[in-house]
Amino acid sequence: MERKRWYKDMVFYQIWPRSFKDGNGDGMGDLWGVLEKLDYIRSLGCDGIWFSPLYPSPGADCGYDIADYMDIAPEFGGMEAFRAVLEGLHARGMKLIMDLVVNHTSDEHEWFQKSRQRIDPYTDYYIWRPAGPGGALPNNWQSHFEGSAWEFDDVRGEYYMHLFAIKQPDLNMDNPLVREEVKKILRFWLDLGVDGFREDVITFISKKEGLPQDHLFPIYKGMRFYNHGPHIHEYLTEFKRDVLDHYDCFTLAEAPLVSPKRSLEYIDERTGQIDMMIQFQCQCADCFFTDWMPLKFSLRRMKHAFSMWQYKLQGRAWNMLYLENHDHPRIISRYGSEDYRTESGKALAASYLFQQGTPFIYQGQEIGMTNWRPDSPALYEDVQTVYQNTHRGTRKSAAKRLHALWRSSRDSARTPVQWDDGPQAGFTTGTPWFSINPNYREINVNREEADPDSLLHFYRRAIQLRKSLRVVRDGRYKEHFHLNPRLYVYSRTLPAEKLLVICSFSKHKQKIRFPKGFDPANGKLILQSYKESAEDYLRPYEARVYYWEK
Ligand code: GLC
Ligand code: CA
Repeated sequence: MERKRWYKDMVFYQIWPRSFKDGNGDGMGDLWGVLEKLDYIRSLGCDGIWFSPLYPSPGADCGYDIADYMDIAPEFGGMEAFRAVLEGLHARGMKLIMDLVVNHTSDEHEWFQKSRQRIDPYTDYYIWRPAGPGGALPNNWQSHFEGSAWEFDDVRGEYYMHLFAIKQPDLNMDNPLVREEVKKILRFWLDLGVDGFREDVITFISKKEGLPQDHLFPIYKGMRFYNHGPHIHEYLTEFKRDVLDHYDCFTLAEAPLVSPKRSLEYIDERTGQIDMMIQFQCQCADCFFTDWMPLKFSLRRMKHAFSMWQYKLQGRAWNMLYLENHDHPRIISRYGSEDYRTESGKALAASYLFQQGTPFIYQGQEIGMTNWRPDSPALYEDVQTVYQNTHRGTRKSAAKRLHALWRSSRDSARTPVQWDDGPQAGFTTGTPWFSINPNYREINVNREEADPDSLLHFYRRAIQLRKSLRVVRDGRYKEHFHLNPRLYVYSRTLPAEKLLVICSFSKHKQKIRFPKGFDPANGKLILQSYKESAEDYLRPYEARVYYWEK
């Protein structure tokens, strides 16, 4: 089927269902709540939704531990509510993509229950290994969430591999029966009308034969043997050839530790097996590899990550653009400034919305939600956070450890969306499943709607502009003044038009600088973050977009 690549003209909104909007008053977000908000999402200029997992799940990793791939959890409204949302989206000309989590399942999935009892054909659906002498672990690989990557199962009398939580056993993708299951899942949702998939840690699905001991790295032990593993392209090609190619859909692959060069092996438009990648470099301007190893924010690191992906993919592949998702703390609290919440939120928005690629917005990002900072570690829910809190830095003071959680936990960005300043921030009429950030009285959708200069309205204007200008879709990207530690300046150029984005990341006035060939005197200022007219210097976190037509 000829690929239409309609995703290139889209802007996506990511919904993390538990915290988006509760429609039935039980305190948990659900699809009835989503139905109420479809027009809101559309009003942002978004034309697609990525849903984090909606499937039945025990919730050990908030739905990323799936117990049944072919159903929608009853607490989210079941299949009936899902169909209503899908129809509602399609009726508005919008698309829906599902989260496909097939590196692992829940240990409560029927496959695992049968596999641990060696009931065929499920016996080899997972990665089982006998204990070594004295009960020794099969190798020294580490999981991302809970210590060793191996857990002993008493029922089967063997270890199983889990690269994430103990309740998330890894599937054995080398087993052709497992790959057939994946294809069944893909077909099931595509036949129902969904428009594509975000593929969870898909680069992990092929593990190196023999599962060798890792003697090299102190962190992420084993990762070099399972990230971009030996059969990864073969398996992705098989999914594409047997299923995806037969539908008008697209795929977005999550890829921890991927360079732009390596990404082309997956997403090169002529030879790739998938359409876009979620890379992590853009998340590392204030940390070393992971949010749990914080560094001071460096604008130059951020610019370098953005530009490197823009340059390397230009003309060959398509970028997925994002600042936030459910796996990282809020971006204003990290790369911006809570003291200049609206201003820095706008600078961040302008920093990525005019790049080449398909932008994603994570729920609450558009109203400038900031990190949640509870007064006790006991309030955290996330499995990774709970493990970090009990196993790392345990000799540090309680206050320091709590700060580390505020700074690094995924829960910092998982509190319910703040819709208004009423009870429970308008998220639910019941008791919310999770804490609500107490700043909801100042930060909420209603308030942002009422103020024409709010961040929310800035997002709307920026998205509308993006969609009306061909140069944002197709223009050549170039970064200017790349050594400047306080300004991010980039241009997009086509023969007949060009665009220049200038963002300050400073709390102090900055001298405005225009690159050669971009004379403001004959250009138009088409978007600005301050309502007062522009001066010849930049105000704190000011963002401007200029446009020239030949
Ligand atoms: C991905 C998801 C994350 C999840 C993990 C394991 O990184 O985005 O939320 O915990 O995979 O499925
Ligand atoms: Ca509910």
